[in-house]
Amino acid sequence: MLVWPVGRLACGLLGIGNEGYRMIATQYDGKVLTEVAGFSLNQLVAGYGSPIYLYDAALIRQRCQDLKAFETVRFAQKACSNLSILGLLKQQGVVVDAVSAGEILRALAVGYSPTSDPPEIVYTSDIFDREALEMVAEHRLHCNLGSPDMIEQLAAVQPGAEITLRINPGFGHGHSQKTNTGGPQSKHGIWHEQLPECLERAAACGLTVVGLHMHIGSGTDLEHLAQVCQAMDQCARMVGPSLKTISAGGGLPTVYRAGQSGMDLAAYYQLWDEVRGGLEATFGHSVHLELEPGRYLVAESGYLLTEIRAVKRMGDNLFYLVDAGFNNLARPILYGAYHPMAICPAPGRAAGPNQDVVVGGPLCESGDIFTQEDGGVVSRRSLPGAEVGDLLVIGCTGAYGSVMASNYNSKPLAAEILLDEGQLRIIRRRQPLEEMIASERSVWEATEPAAALR
Ligand code: LLP
Repeated sequence: MLVWPVGRLACGLLGIGNEGYRMIATQYDGKVLTEVAGFSLNQLVAGYGSPIYLYDAALIRQRCQDLKAFETVRFAQKACSNLSILGLLKQQGVVVDAVSAGEILRALAVGYSPTSDPPEIVYTSDIFDREALEMVAEHRLHCNLGSPDMIEQLAAVQPGAEITLRINPGFGHGHSQKTNTGGPQSKHGIWHEQLPECLERAAACGLTVVGLHMHIGSGTDLEHLAQVCQAMDQCARMVGPSLKTISAGGGLPTVYRAGQSGMDLAAYYQLWDEVRGGLEATFGHSVHLELEPGRYLVAESGYLLTEIRAVKRMGDNLFYLVDAGFNNLARPILYGAYHPMAICPAPGRAAGPNQDVVVGGPLCESGDIFTQEDGGVVSRRSLPGAEVGDLLVIGCTGAYGSVMASNYNSKPLAAEILLDEGQLRIIRRRQPLEEMIASERSVWEATEPAAALR
């Protein structure tokens, strides 16, 4: 890991303290932004190329602090699973979930213990693929089962295990239909009416249900999350006193744009604490409360830096074309997701007055547009006047940004950099082009092109 110590260039745009951070996206959206965490964005791109993902470590720590009331905060690492991000969260006392063999490997690689109590790693999925089941068995991981068939599959490799059941309470909600994980259209979890049958199946094969988990969707709100409490209470009473842990899942919203409101965390905690207290009184023992956020902990810490490589007009639309595309950040094309954007003018240049622009990437695909709404409708964004060589900063990209990147159009994965107290750390190097094709081979190598034509 490279470490490049740099003095803080400025005290930073973002205020310390919860309120300052709450405003984060709206502070720079549509404006000029030249630094993150005291680092000059132009210097970063001069040193490391474009595009790059940046993460502000202080902001991740702050988000962990916000959730201190919850006994266990379990990071849904699918949101951002870089080893250094996991390590940073581990330092903050946050544990992890894993949804695949690869995520188990990541958790083990940063030193999470597979057999602690409460478990530092929980495998949460709706299936065991064979590779994941092997790793679960090898490390005796605690599992949160999202399908009834997983009960017997786990019992076969981990007889006598304690398990958690993920329940679909019959309703869900998310920022997009694609991130709604509850209700009859969702593939996630065990349908609530099937809980009694699953308890019998678990007992029949010698497993003990010690946990219940509900996650109704990603990017939802307090109103919908609050409904989960009642559903959890009912299901928990069906399980009875073997229950040791309830998990409220993730889904805590992040403010991406003006007009969105954050979440009243104290009110949310209180709702769950009441459910927990009621269960403790009934069962006569303590009940552990878990939260499983992904986005909340990391979204705002991330910025995608990308260089403007062309400015052109198409009829009434002015386009800024940048060197990052949906291969780097897929949320706009997948969900019509809104990300705050700012311009960092090249050294010695000043930004022009704001204008309405469409922002697109380099890919050979019309959908490669960062300013789009659900359904692919192209929209315009008011951004400072910019020229080729200026940077576009796409904010709130720490969650579901780099982890959803691809090699489409044979573009390499971007570098990731962690900015922390004046230190810059490369936490993933840019993927070399050769590495991108290293696992492929041409079966025609032996064939002379000329011979093939004959
Ligand atoms: N727990 C479970 C079981 C989950 O499936 C998820 C997210 C989380 C927790 C964390 O949810 P969060 O707190 O991050 O909302 N790619 C989409 C989000 C997909 C979420 C998948 N599961 C996006 O970019 O919005």
